[in-house]
Formats: sequence, C-alpha cells, structure tokens
Amino acid sequence: MSNSLFITKPVQAAPHVDAGEPVHGSLQGEVTLKRTLTARQLVALGVGAVIGAGIFVLSGQAAAAHAGPAIMLSFVIAGIACAFAGLCYAEFAAMLPVSGSAYSYSYATLGEIVAWFIGWNLVLEYLFAASTVAVGWSGYLNSLLHDFGLALPNSLAAAPFDVVNGKLTPTGGYVNLPAVAIIGAISALCYVGIRQSAIVNSVIVAIKLIVIFMFVAFGAKYVDPANWHPFIPENQGPGKFGMEGVVRGAAIVFFAYIGFDAVSTAAGEAKNPQRDMPIGILGSLFFCTIIYIIVAAVLTGMLPYTELGTPKPVATALAAYPSLLWLKTIVSIGAIAGLSSVILVMLMSQPRIFYSMAQDGLLPKMFAKVHPTFQTPHRGTIVVGVVAAVLAGLLPIGFLGDLVSMGTLLAFATVSAGVLILRRTRPDLPRPFRVRAPWLVCPLGVIFCLYLFWQPFAENWHVMISWTVLGFLIYFGYGFRHSRLRKGA
Ligand code: ALA
Repeated sequence: MSNSLFITKPVQAAPHVDAGEPVHGSLQGEVTLKRTLTARQLVALGVGAVIGAGIFVLSGQAAAAHAGPAIMLSFVIAGIACAFAGLCYAEFAAMLPVSGSAYSYSYATLGEIVAWFIGWNLVLEYLFAASTVAVGWSGYLNSLLHDFGLALPNSLAAAPFDVVNGKLTPTGGYVNLPAVAIIGAISALCYVGIRQSAIVNSVIVAIKLIVIFMFVAFGAKYVDPANWHPFIPENQGPGKFGMEGVVRGAAIVFFAYIGFDAVSTAAGEAKNPQRDMPIGILGSLFFCTIIYIIVAAVLTGMLPYTELGTPKPVATALAAYPSLLWLKTIVSIGAIAGLSSVILVMLMSQPRIFYSMAQDGLLPKMFAKVHPTFQTPHRGTIVVGVVAAVLAGLLPIGFLGDLVSMGTLLAFATVSAGVLILRRTRPDLPRPFRVRAPWLVCPLGVIFCLYLFWQPFAENWHVMISWTVLGFLIYFGYGFRHSRLRKGA
C-alpha cells in the first residue's frame, strides 16, 4: 500500500484498434462501454457541445459591456487558448482512449491527488455547465412561448434567488421548471444509450447550424460597416473596453468554446479512437472558431454594440429590421435546439468521468456500474441528472457560469502541462497524434489558460476555494482509502 499522494498510474500504450473492437491495455483496459461512434459523429458531438449559450447569449453581452466590435478579437484570443489545449487533448485522447478525459491524463502524469483535483473541477465543467445552459434554455423557451401568448409565470420559470453585487436577492420565483424538465428529459436519453444520444445529437446539430447559416446569410445584407468603428472602443475603466476589455471579453466568451474536450470523454466509445479523436477534437474546435468570428462580425455589424447587451442578442439584432422578423422565431427555435445539444453532451460526459474515477476506487462503485442492456453508466447518469436538475431549478445563470469557466480552464492548463511531462517521463509510448513543438505549445497553453482563469477567479475566489476544500474533504474521506492503485489492486 502506497501512501504517496502523487502516485501515478502506469501508462500502457493502447494497441491499434479496429472499428468495433474494444481497447485492451489502455489505462486499465476499459472494455465495458460500447464502441459505436464514428469520426463524423465525434465532430458532431464536439459541435453539439460547443455552440450554445456562449454565442446565443454571452456574445452580445460581452460586446456591449467589455469589448465592443472587438468581441471578434476576444473570440480569437479565447480560440487560441483552446487551440493549444485542444492539440494537447488530441495527443492524449489518441494515446489513451479512455473515458476519463483530463482526469485520466492527470492520473498518468501528475499523480492521484492532482487527478482528483482535476476530476473534481471537471464536475464544474460538465455538471454545472449542463445546469447553466439549461437555465439559458429555459429563458429562450419562455420568450418563445411569450411570443405566442403562452409564457409561464415568473414563479415557475425563475430561480428563487439571484446574486446581485455578491448578495443573494429574492427574485419572486420558486423554481425554474423548464430547466428542470429539460435536464430530466435529456438524462433519460443518456440513460438509454450513447448511440441513440449521438443520433439525436446529430439531428439537433444540423438544425442549429442551419439556423446560424440563415442568420449570417440574411443578416449580412444589413451590416453597416460604420458599426465596427471604433473597432476597439476607448477604455472606460477596469475591464471596460480598450485592450483590457478585449481580454475580459475573451474570458467571458471562453464559455462558448467549452465542450470540445467533451469529445475526449467519448474516447472509450469511439470506433477508431487513434485516428478519430484528433479529428473530433480539432475539427470541432476549428469549425466553431470560424463560425463564432463570422457570427460576431455580423452581429456587431447589424447593430451598434451598445444595443446588444440583451439575453438574446441574435434575436435582438433581427428584431431591429422589420423585414427580418420572420427569422427571429426560427432563430429562437434554433437556439433552443442548440442549447439542448450542449446539455446533452454535458450530461453524457459527466457520468463517464465518474465511471473512470469509480473504476479507480476514488468514487463509490455504483458509478462504475454499466447497464446490462444499454451498456451505459446508468447509475451515474441518474445521480448527475438529479443534481444538475436541482442546481438548474434553484440557481441563477450568472453564478453558475463563472464556476464553469474556472473549472474548465484549470483542466485545460493541467492537460497542457501533462503532455510535456509525459513526453519526458514516457518518451517510448506510441503517439498516434503528436503535438508539434511541445516545448512551445504546452507552456503557452498553460499560460493562456491560467491568465484567462485569473479573470473570474479574482472576483469569485471564495467560491472556488470552498469548492476545492469540499473536494479534498471527499478525497481524504473516501478516495484516499479506497484507491485501487494505492492498494496495489
Ligand atoms: N460552449 C457551450 C455553450 O456555449 C458550453 O453553451
């Protein structure tokens, strides 16, 4: 029995996997999940996870409050940070096609306690993101219902509290019922199976892309280049416009990129992970970056940035042109579809990370149980669904959003460092995909991610520290004593 907190899990190379075969000999030779996902489905999974509240909600708000038309530049900066991390994810996911994503990679490189810390942060990324986006989904749904005179009363469509100037303030709501309902419905889908989930996901992704293309195609005719001047408005205080505002904007729209790494959690279910993981991760990241910059350009070109600070900036821009009103309802439906697929991927990913952690003994065994018929981690799916539904029903979107970004940025920074460490400690491992110039890409990934992490951390450090302390209490109360690796099992 080892007492080292930094014990690392021995890495064995995964042998070549043909379509349909399970991978034996990866971290622990996970063989129990079904291998059905193709490269195209993986890219769709990535795009499904990525395009959501970030572009449909946050883009306009960040432009109005922080970056102005230079929100395009904010998307570029956040995209660069993600590209560095994405390359590192691709190397890991092709080399270790297991379900645990950054958690498993850290276990192999930085040791158990760091792996636990990252796994705990991934809960912020996936579980909390599902709740965050469900709250945004509820907002879009209710506004669409409102257009048809069917809006739900505030008491059933809002969390009981909002956080205003750091204080809990009652909103008059009891529970955000649509947010709870969408989490429940999607959890049921995840329980049934990843193949079914992937098919539904592909349909939803198609709908949201069509809607975005329509917005760009019709909206572009109404772009007035005068709205892009000044491109970077003059600084008006900390984080408000100027280059400083552009960086603050990047930390906010970083949320828009969250999810490309979710592709790596499906590595255990990919048909040909060595070839398809890099395609899935980098393909979806590249595709989404291009879309974001184009949408941001059209959005800020259609209306002065000062008018975009609404919860539905895309619909707001369309509403300004009577000849485009017909498109507004379609865009709202597309946004609802888009946000659904984000929730789907998040709810699919979280139980798979718990699955890996439970297999390692760091979480109770029930999370490692696989459904005999559906071959999904069904118990974890139920637990995650219930917790996500409670959070979505009771907490406001702003409070959840910053936590999601912080957890994700820490995971990205760790993965970037991990690639470099494993190159030194295990240069012998076959790497189907290799990061070029890792001595440059990896440190830049760490620096970019930690720099963006610092922006919300400076405001929310107390919440983040409380979350971390809670995580370590659970680790020392359970995981440390039950770790299979530590017990030599
Ligand atoms: N990237 C996801 C979104 O924008 C989380 O909603």
